[in-house]
Amino acid sequence: MAERPLIAVVGSANVDLTTFNDVFPRPGETIFGKKFDLGFGGKGANQAVAARLCGANVGMVAKVGSDLFGPATIKNFESLGIDATYVRIAEGVSSGVAPIFVDPSGQNRIIVVKGANDTLSPEDVDAAAPLLRKAHAIILQFEVPLRTVYHTVKFAKANGIRCIVNPAPAQPVDFKQVGTADYFIPNESEAEVITGMPVHSIDDAKKCAEFLLRQGMQRVVITLGERGCLAAGADRKELIPAFQVRAVDTTGAGDAFIGSLAVFLSKGLPEEEALPRANLYAALSTTKVGTQKSFYSREEFEKEWRNRGGRL
Ligand code: RIB
Repeated sequence: MAERPLIAVVGSANVDLTTFNDVFPRPGETIFGKKFDLGFGGKGANQAVAARLCGANVGMVAKVGSDLFGPATIKNFESLGIDATYVRIAEGVSSGVAPIFVDPSGQNRIIVVKGANDTLSPEDVDAAAPLLRKAHAIILQFEVPLRTVYHTVKFAKANGIRCIVNPAPAQPVDFKQVGTADYFIPNESEAEVITGMPVHSIDDAKKCAEFLLRQGMQRVVITLGERGCLAAGADRKELIPAFQVRAVDTTGAGDAFIGSLAVFLSKGLPEEEALPRANLYAALSTTKVGTQKSFYSREEFEKEWRNRGGRL
């Protein structure tokens, strides 16, 4: 396994427009908000940034719009040292954007307008094969067309590359097409939408994970916010508790979890250590505002991990 693995992300890049407020408008109502934040986001891009900050080499495969945000997004990748060779501009299309509303408890509500993300095609993935073939892990989410996701899962399998599928935002899934991925990682609400099963308790999450395993998934991890995550495979079903933090904005915590987990696993850490580490990396991201800009550097993270002694 590699000290500095290469992680490839095939996925979305958005610009996040985040409003913080105590209440949200009713139909026909205009109200004042408390605070606004503009930042680079998108589940794919966030996961790429998390992986990069955790010490990996990272390559991004994405489409951005031919507007103000497109070139700025590419520049952001480059400034972070992420290989953006396969981030292309889709002419005549807007970039993906995400108006986000965060309440006083730090919980978020997000509307994603996919824009250029919706033009990322299987052909774009094939064009990025020189990068993808070298990757230790490929990460996917559902903000790009599902046919592109399915194509990439097949590519990863054919080339023996670890593949992590984060089915976010939730959509009906063709289980046969994602069943060969090594990890299937929804959060609780995504797991509910995908399976039609309620996920309120840990027991619900176990039943839901068992259902997903029966559909052919190799390993399932259901992230459960402040309760941690449930890891399930043929051999075990285990709750990995979360670390306690004071959350101000939970947006992007799931992406922090996925991006960091890809790095920890690719470095050769066993799941027993990689999952608690990803739990902490995700928890720490909620202590700051925004998505990418709330992610800790490797040094900051390692200090926290040591201070907490890997304990809860
Ligand atoms: O997971 C958080 C992300 O979801 C935001 O950055 C937003 O862009 C949406 O993709």
